Amino acid sequence: MWAVPVEIRLASDSDHHDLFEAFERIVNALDGFPHAPPLTRAEFNEYWIAHSSAVSIARFNGHLVGASYIKPNFVGRAAHIANAGYFVLGPYRGTGVGRSLVEHSLKEARRLGFDAMLFNLVFESNPARAMYRKLGFEEIGRIPSAVNGEDALIYWRSLEDVEP
Ligand SMILES: CC(C)(COP(=O)(O)OP(=O)(O)OC[C@H]1O[C@@H](n2cnc3c(N)ncnc32)[C@H](O)[C@@H]1OP(=O)(O)O)[C@@H](O)C(=O)NCCC(=O)NCCS
Repeated sequence: MWAVPVEIRLASDSDHHDLFEAFERIVNALDGFPHAPPLTRAEFNEYWIAHSSAVSIARFNGHLVGASYIKPNFVGRAAHIANAGYFVLGPYRGTGVGRSLVEHSLKEARRLGFDAMLFNLVFESNPARAMYRKLGFEEIGRIPSAVNGEDALIYWRSLEDVEP
């Protein structure tokens, strides 16, 4: 695999338009997320921005090629468990950007004070599953017929071994 030298950094307000357009492409392709197209700007804001503790973007030659968010998965006494989501645009897949985003988010979540991470809805057919296992996530549950008849998996990982 060749590696693309991407820059991953926290998103600022000026990145949100590019992020919306990139995620809109993911949603239109029914690619790994449960959103139903067309994606509105309000839905994007609600999902990506409003509740996030951190949003990171990957840029290559100035182009936004991928992104991640981290947010509390639950409220109150369970808010120590983070949720995260990732995407990489099609032409840049298979070059290590996705793995870099996940590894970056583990450190960022730790830095933010989370001590575990949970993925709620990983489609059974998602190639990211192998990467999640390699990066220390355990498959802890299955949701039958979650999206258009396809099962989804739940992944969990402690963050206590992660250096922020
Ligand atoms: C999941 C996703 C972020 C992976 O991004 P990526 O940049 O292609 O990932 P990488 O190139 O870093 O690859 C990560 C690992 O997964 C493997 N992998 C990636 N795509 C694969 C595929 N289609 N088939 C098999 N393995 C694949 C790679 O071989 C790599 O393994 P390695 O680290 O042992 O070498 C990307 O496919 C994506 O955006 N999908 C749509 C949105 C999505 O599903 N998000 C996750 C929701 S749970």
